[in-house]
Amino acid sequence: MNYNKKTVMDVDVAGKKILLRCDFNVPQDKKTGAITSDKRIVAALPTIRYLLDRGAAVIACSHLGKPNATFSSYVKKQVEKGKNEADITEEDWRKSLRKLTLAPVAERLSELLGREVIFASDVVGEDAHAKAAALQPGQIMLLENTRFEKGETKNDPELAKALADMAELYVSDAFGTVHRAHASTAGVAAYLPAVSGMLVAKELEIMGRALDDPKRPFVAVLGGAKVSDKIGVINNLLDKADTIIIGGGMAYTFAKAQGGSIGTSLCESDKLDYAREMIEKARERSVELLLPTDTLAAREFAADAAAEVVPTNAIPDDMMGLDIGPETTERFCAAVRGAGTVVWNGPMGVFEFERFAGGTRAMAQALADSGAVTIVGGGDSAAAVEQMGFADKITHISTGGGASLEFLEGKELPGVACLLDK
Ligand code: 3PG
Repeated sequence: MNYNKKTVMDVDVAGKKILLRCDFNVPQDKKTGAITSDKRIVAALPTIRYLLDRGAAVIACSHLGKPNATFSSYVKKQVEKGKNEADITEEDWRKSLRKLTLAPVAERLSELLGREVIFASDVVGEDAHAKAAALQPGQIMLLENTRFEKGETKNDPELAKALADMAELYVSDAFGTVHRAHASTAGVAAYLPAVSGMLVAKELEIMGRALDDPKRPFVAVLGGAKVSDKIGVINNLLDKADTIIIGGGMAYTFAKAQGGSIGTSLCESDKLDYAREMIEKARERSVELLLPTDTLAAREFAADAAAEVVPTNAIPDDMMGLDIGPETTERFCAAVRGAGTVVWNGPMGVFEFERFAGGTRAMAQALADSGAVTIVGGGDSAAAVEQMGFADKITHISTGGGASLEFLEGKELPGVACLLDK
């Protein structure tokens, strides 16, 4: 896929009305709705400031969560969850939408920018169009949650056109959402010249270089619960990496595939052949594949469960692996310390439980200490690196979860493919 796309710096933005797609899909407190991390809002600031400083009028937009855009889709979801259809009211649906308003994001954005952020109460309705028409150079407004429109996730051309009608240029800075072919992430580019913002440009440049022209040795560290989530990534990296390290819950499927006993550890029985195939492919391609040899196991999945170090291929029948063991940790970290480039996606164990966070912490420390170009894919491993205080020692922490995974898979990302080539 071609990552060499035009950015805001390649076009004239002065005095233009610009539709700016951000990823303001921020985590919120379930009860109060308060934003619990404004990282994604902060990540959008450089592009917003760049545009406003040059006299552009910015119409920002984003999705938030997964709202049901119609009452019927809300009813269907609630019935699936076991609710009685007769008890579900339109007021319940509207309440569920109100929880996903972008109004608190507009407020936080305004605090961070130190200027007013005008908020539209709809996406392409009267309010949005009127406020966009009145918007002056140097002003910014935010549209309501794009997923309140049912055409958004369907990439409906009518919605894309209605969004485009408010602006003269489209800027994509929502890296976390570039893997979605939605009206506001890709469809709109059919009606407006489309370029990337600074965040998307930075993500593409750093991750693109890591995949296409890495400083070697190139070490990929993969973890997380499921092999099935990482199949595409392993396939793609087998052609690019020098070493692939596999930890986390997915490692037990590999241990079982090699004839080990893994007790009650996570296992995807339908992926055993795949795991064997990957081991074979790595051998054929001379890619070093590092798998755990020892494991920190427990009899129950609990924060205070008594832990024991056992061989990964001989986990007692009543125990489950919850973290990599000390010998494995040392081997994995040594490979990272000798790397030129490290890409990490997925924790090494159940790091949410302090007792089983040691492998993930040691890996974060090894990345921080290595002189390598270090890239942490979004999602859980990014959260771990941040929680554990290593964020400022990592070259790049991606703002995309699913998006950075699909990037590592080598897939075409619709929100990038739609931008103008350089
Ligand atoms: C994310 O949080 O990964 C992005 O905002 C995409 O959200 P989605 O999975 O709801 O499309």
